Amino acid sequence: MTDSHITFESAPDKVAHRVTKMRPSAVRNLFAATQRPDVISLSGGMPDVSLLPKSAVRKAAKAALERQSVTLQYGGTNGVAETAQVFCDIMRDIGIRHKPENIIVTTGAQEALDLIGKTFLDEGDICIVEGPTYLGALQAFSAYEPDIRTIAFDEDGMRMDLLEEELERIGKNNPRLKFLYTIPNFQNPGGVTMSPERRKRLIELSHEYGFIVVEDDPYGRLRYEGGHCLPLRALDDSVIYLGTISKMFAAGLRVGWIAAMPGVISKISLMKQGTDLCGSQFDQVMAAAYFTETPWQNTLQKFVKVYDKRRRAMLDALDEFFPPEASWTHPQGGFFVWVTLPPYIDTESMLAEALEQGVTYVPGNGCFPDPSQGRNCMRINFSYESPENIREAVRRLSVVIEDKLELSRAFIAAGALKE
Ligand SMILES: Cc1ncc(COP(=O)(O)O)c(C=O)c1O
Repeated sequence: MTDSHITFESAPDKVAHRVTKMRPSAVRNLFAATQRPDVISLSGGMPDVSLLPKSAVRKAAKAALERQSVTLQYGGTNGVAETAQVFCDIMRDIGIRHKPENIIVTTGAQEALDLIGKTFLDEGDICIVEGPTYLGALQAFSAYEPDIRTIAFDEDGMRMDLLEEELERIGKNNPRLKFLYTIPNFQNPGGVTMSPERRKRLIELSHEYGFIVVEDDPYGRLRYEGGHCLPLRALDDSVIYLGTISKMFAAGLRVGWIAAMPGVISKISLMKQGTDLCGSQFDQVMAAAYFTETPWQNTLQKFVKVYDKRRRAMLDALDEFFPPEASWTHPQGGFFVWVTLPPYIDTESMLAEALEQGVTYVPGNGCFPDPSQGRNCMRINFSYESPENIREAVRRLSVVIEDKLELSRAFIAAGALKE
């Protein structure tokens, strides 16, 4: 190997500008640590696929195997027609009327996010997100080098007063303002749900200021208490709705969808051609079979029951073990709780100590475009571990936090640190 080859391999001067600005996902980085048997992971966002009935999975896989001339072949870019129909039926259940020809089946909602970025964002364009938001969305959008603005949430979701202030700064019909991305149900990482009043207000603001609303709804069917809220897409046809089977069925199949107006669908479809020509036909047919030939609604109820127990275990353990200086959200569904610690605690550096104690979480700053934000926060997941493990993990975490607090209290007493 020559020296020039070595230089070329690392190629710092060859890679695109966008690559140098990308941050790795904290969750992906933690993946190896979470495989250690002594570690209880509160960091992932994984569904518990062991709850799926084997007979249903086999039946769906068999249906895909039996149609190999379709499932092992290339397909249309927008996806298998019967799969798109299934997604329309699923959306109808939650109040959305949509035609299958206006759906693109994607490789998970993650590909949908990338396609949204690819279709709408030029360098410097503005997009608005909740702060904190789903770190995979930040990764997807960041590749297109936008100016990402964040809006804080409270227990009723994204704060419309702060959004209006930001929109005032941006100005009405600003051509650089492209879209607002929101996860209105059981937000990732916040766990909070946007109230019906705020949903209505958001739609009004989108018309007043001229931006597209992108609604990402992976957790909407996983509600453990409270009543169903109408999706944004049910309030306004121009909303772009993203769905996925990852949390309702199988994350490993990589099937999601985009539902939008025909003009938007045709543009996104053009972008998808360059990405992958078409998604996996096998995965799509298997997904369609699962949702038409198996009692999936019963299985969903099972997921809801089990995850609810785990959620309660987490909230009870937080009440029992966490110090009074900490606060956290109270999700009515989904997978996550968002914890806020005193400002002098840095959850990114604390992670090493947590790992030593055998527990992982996602440091809060990974969920903001500006990593100096959310440093005293963390996302903890309750969907994957047993209630006993969740309790133990929260206990271990409280030991690590208590250690930090003791030190900080001593500094505060000595006047070296502000409360
Ligand atoms: C809010 C949100 N959007 C999108 C995704 C990606 O989902 P998929 O597995 O469908 O790619 C996730 C996964 O955790 C998520 O939490």
